[in-house]
Amino acid sequence: MKKNLVLGVSGGIAVYKALEIVSLLVKKDINVNVIMTESATKFVTPLSFQSLSQNMVTCDMFAEPKAWEIQHISLAEKADVFLVAPATANIIGKVANGIADDMLSTTIMATKAKVIFAPAMNTNMYENPIVQENIKKLKSLGYEFIDPAEGRLACGTSGKGKLESPEIIVDKVLMELNENKDLLNKNVVVTAGPTIAPIDPVRFITNRSTGKMGYAIAKEARNRGANVTLISGPTSIIAPKDINVVEVSTNEEMKNEVMNIFDEADIVIKSAAVADYKPKNYSTQKIKKGDGELCIEFIRDNDILMELGSKKKNQILVGFAAESQELKDNAMSKLQRKNLDYIVANDITASDTGFASEDNKVIILSKEGKEIYLDKMSKEKIATNLFDIILEKR
Ligand code: CTP
Repeated sequence: MKKNLVLGVSGGIAVYKALEIVSLLVKKDINVNVIMTESATKFVTPLSFQSLSQNMVTCDMFAEPKAWEIQHISLAEKADVFLVAPATANIIGKVANGIADDMLSTTIMATKAKVIFAPAMNTNMYENPIVQENIKKLKSLGYEFIDPAEGRLACGTSGKGKLESPEIIVDKVLMELNENKDLLNKNVVVTAGPTIAPIDPVRFITNRSTGKMGYAIAKEARNRGANVTLISGPTSIIAPKDINVVEVSTNEEMKNEVMNIFDEADIVIKSAAVADYKPKNYSTQKIKKGDGELCIEFIRDNDILMELGSKKKNQILVGFAAESQELKDNAMSKLQRKNLDYIVANDITASDTGFASEDNKVIILSKEGKEIYLDKMSKEKIATNLFDIILEKR
């Protein structure tokens, strides 16, 4: 069954970003019901929210008092999570002080769902002690906040008050919507992205990897209640909330970070595309071009997963295998060689899955001989399946 998110939109220039929030949530198969305050409708029309959510939008502007008295109860009960984005000083102030005088404030008052506010306002307003007191009071009562970001604001000034990015807000909502906390208090370590091997101050070699698969795994583990450390090579993905992200660039740095926390880890998933070779000699000066060929000698670098496999005690160790031929056989031999519990085998020759794609198609093999074929699906769904398999739920 679809999860239900009620989105309260209050009036500010950031209202247009709430459209993106709806669109991202609908793509994740979440049913979204939007309630707009009258001032929100001055910035963006209800029709835009209606088109994106495929649901009627509730607005104070058009509502008969009698109609919304009933409707606020049904939406309040329907909500699995209640998000207010953008949340103005006004709606925060109303809720903090028990004022329920319109559709949005009455519905928030009547809901038992988790309510998350994503404030957006001018910096001075945000820093006003009255607003801060209201936020503190609401937090102490169990309401959650996604702090605004810093940046250039619509009023022309710079400072804290920008609505946090729709991706981060949606990520937080998805975390709250996930009731399955079967990794609660487990320490999960995930590696993601590529590593780089510098040649000189301006050049390096690297592996193709956007980090999308590893980030999806880290988020899934976090959503299921785990304490997650994500050791990430360079990527363009925004660091997710509530995950300890450790940024590295070389094989050596990644190895040191993983080794440091390996003893405390319950599950380690190595989805990073680690560079196997590095230049024998790093040139501290930029290598100048000459007329002839350029030869660079490469030497083997650490096989991090192999070292983890040899140190492994009770940890569940999961590797990835990027293969262009004999997928299953090559992956199985990696699983055995590196002493893994599971391996996710990835056919890198497929053009519509794998690198940089939103989707993947993999086979998950276990050391006991299980073979699970996951047909083309989103990297998020692969991550969900992977943990279901690790936790022996399928
Ligand atoms: N891996 C690692 N350290 C390396 C290379 C790979 O920890 N130097 C890990 C990857 O994170 C992945 C698994 O080992 O989980 C397999 O990576 P892959 O690149 O498919 O295989 P390789 O071991 O490098 O073997 P080959 O290049 O021969 O396919």
